[in-house]
Amino acid sequence: MNYELINTNICGDDRGHLIVFEKNMNCPFDVKRIFYIYGTNGKVARGCHANRNSEFLLISINGNCKVKIDDGKTQKIVELSNPHTALYLDKMLWKEMYDFSADCILLVIASTNYDEREYIRDYEEFLKEVNG
Ligand code: TYD
Repeated sequence: MNYELINTNICGDDRGHLIVFEKNMNCPFDVKRIFYIYGTNGKVARGCHANRNSEFLLISINGNCKVKIDDGKTQKIVELSNPHTALYLDKMLWKEMYDFSADCILLVIASTNYDEREYIRDYEEFLKEVNG
C-alpha cells in the first residue's frame, strides 16, 4: 500500500519550533494546493473518497485524528497526533479521516489543483477501478 509516515526534523531554538516541508526533501511532489480542516465534529468522518490523480501530505498541526487508508485490498489505520509527522498518500487510495479532537487542525498539502472530476466518492466504484 503506497503510503508513508514521514517524521521530519523540528528546527527549534529558544524562540520555539519551526517545521518545513519542501519538495525533494520530505515532500515527494510539486505543491499546487493547501487546505486545512478544523472545527470538525468529532463524530463525523471526512474524506471518504479516493483521488485518481492527487497525492497528499496530511499533517495534524494541532490536536489529533485518525486516518483509515484502503488500497482496495487491505486497510490500515494511522493516528496523526503531532505537527512533525506527515502522512504521505499516493493516488488511488480510499481515505477516511475521523475521531477528530475538538482542537484538531488537519493541514493537507496536495499535488494538484482542485478538480471534482478526479474524485471517486463511491466505494464500490473505487473497488472496480483500483482492482481492474
Ligand atoms: P470535501 O471534498 O467534501 O472535503 P473532505 O473530503 O475533506 O471531507 O469538500 C468540501 C467542500 O469544499 C466541497 O464543497 C468542495 C470544496 N473544496 C474545494 O473547493 N477545494 C478543495 O481543494 C477541496 C478539498 C474542497
